Amino acid sequence: MTARFVNVEDARRIARRRLPKIFFDYIDGGSSAEATLASSTGDFANLRLEQRVLAGLRPRDLSSEFLGQRNRLPFMLGPVGFLGLFAGHGEILAAKAAHAAGIPACLSNFSIASLDDLRRAGCDGPLQFQLYVLKDRGLAEEFVAAAERAGVETLHLTVDTAVTGIRERDARNGFRAATRITPRMGFGMALRPAWAFDMLRTGKPGVGAVRGRAEFGANILAQAATLSRLIDPALSWDDVDWLRGRWRGRLSIKGILHPGDARRAKAAGADAIVVSNHGGRQLDGARSTISALPSIVDAADGLEVLLDGGVRRGTDIVKAIALGASGVLLGRAYVWGVAAGGEAGAARVIQLLSDEIDVTLGLMGLSSIDELKALGRDALVPPSEVAASARMVQPVGL
Ligand SMILES: Cc1cc2nc3c(=O)[nH]c(=O)nc-3n(C[C@H](O)[C@H](O)[C@H](O)COP(=O)(O)O)c2cc1C
Repeated sequence: MTARFVNVEDARRIARRRLPKIFFDYIDGGSSAEATLASSTGDFANLRLEQRVLAGLRPRDLSSEFLGQRNRLPFMLGPVGFLGLFAGHGEILAAKAAHAAGIPACLSNFSIASLDDLRRAGCDGPLQFQLYVLKDRGLAEEFVAAAERAGVETLHLTVDTAVTGIRERDARNGFRAATRITPRMGFGMALRPAWAFDMLRTGKPGVGAVRGRAEFGANILAQAATLSRLIDPALSWDDVDWLRGRWRGRLSIKGILHPGDARRAKAAGADAIVVSNHGGRQLDGARSTISALPSIVDAADGLEVLLDGGVRRGTDIVKAIALGASGVLLGRAYVWGVAAGGEAGAARVIQLLSDEIDVTLGLMGLSSIDELKALGRDALVPPSEVAASARMVQPVGL
């Protein structure tokens, strides 16, 4: 199916029609009251871009330097678990779309496909890996070795999951603690025949990183539950030191939301941080990433800063870069693309966001992402003026 949607929200709607409800809700949902999830998208709208005119016609260059290389676009595909459950071989399809567009893809520790699977399937572009450090350091060590073998350039250590957020949609759907497919799940899956056929064709899924390890359980639900249980809740900055000593590639710490932690990350020898609240799936009530970004960039003192969370529009990416992000990671936006239309769906999301960035830069009188980076916060309307304009629309005299 060639996905012909015109924006990310359309992709979300198609994904909703194609996926069993438990999976759609798992992707779409956040933790508890979903307040952080809502502000993650909503806070982008509180920022305004400066329109500049008569800048002359210049060819536009959307390429952007981040994580040690020049990428054709200022964003990449971030780590999302279980992609291969949302479309058969979802991780491979997403990575192929990313590489065709000249951007990196990051594989989650909770993926169906392994790094080796991706390489074997011909994904020969830049690959990154997201790591959870497990209580059993031997296993974490093996994941790192697999990343080295696959030529991974950047390792993202996710640090915002010491405790798992309460995801009420999953609890309501009976998805939370399931270790096997219940009749209710089976019924929900049967209601989505195109998805079910795709899965049958692909074969029995499992968590790629623990394939062949009987102690993790016999099916994907058991494997995921066991792996989750093994994530080390006591992870500390000492473990970052350990990983820094072990991993010679680029090290990024994903899940920073406080300037003090950005300073610690720099002191621990990280090469980059990702400002992230895990897509509003962890600490409900935490800040949106775009509102946290400026003070973190100031504290990072030259350490590279990327951002994810709530990115649904090219303008969101332009705003994050204006506020100091070197690049942006997509989450749900591309997952909906994969679920809606496989590789073509992911490619379409990438293309739509690229087109939106192109038009946005043009209307701001800018010819490149580098120019946007140089302009920085001046590319945005000052917050005091945005606040003043918000007051102006209040009915006068009431
Ligand atoms: C379904 C789903 C699964 C995710 N799995 C992981 C994961 O395995 N590892 C990780 O570091 N982050 C994971 N994330 C978080 C994303 O990497 C990213 O931080 C978040 O999705 C960004 O927010 P956005 O989806 O609103 O763009 C997941 C997010 C979603 C939606």
